Amino acid sequence: MEKSGLKKTIDSDKKITRRDFLDYFIKAGFFGLLAGMAYPALNYLNPVTRQGPVGGLADVGAADEVPLWGAKKYIVAGSAIMVIHTPQGFKALSAICTHLGCLVGWDEQRHEIVCPCHAGRFDIEGAKISGPPPRGLAAYHVNVVQGRLMVQV
Ligand code: FES
Repeated sequence: MEKSGLKKTIDSDKKITRRDFLDYFIKAGFFGLLAGMAYPALNYLNPVTRQGPVGGLADVGAADEVPLWGAKKYIVAGSAIMVIHTPQGFKALSAICTHLGCLVGWDEQRHEIVCPCHAGRFDIEGAKISGPPPRGLAAYHVNVVQGRLMVQV
């Protein structure tokens, strides 16, 4: 007799009332909403400039695709890289501006790298010349092997 009374008490404690269900449902919705708002905010705080390619040697293309004093952009391991052909050889630099992550371009007349977003300028080695970027562009080792541009990322 006593056992069944105890069992009845335990069973009634486990029973979820409509109020409990709505309470869980509202809390789950609230936390889901918070997570939905937090993800883009956290993603914004981790800008693309902090994301670099993973290591390795990448064949980015034929060397003759880049004319002397010309430049070409490639995506290597998920990151944009610019290869510039100079009389001294090829240079490979990150094509992501260190200010706010815009894609930089090549100014063939001035032989400089320019950022279209806030007029940041970089020299051919990737060093900052002017504008708001806090530092220069990352440089990568590049070699020509059997006519192919091999970039160490
Ligand atoms: S993002 Fe390049 S100068 Fe601002």
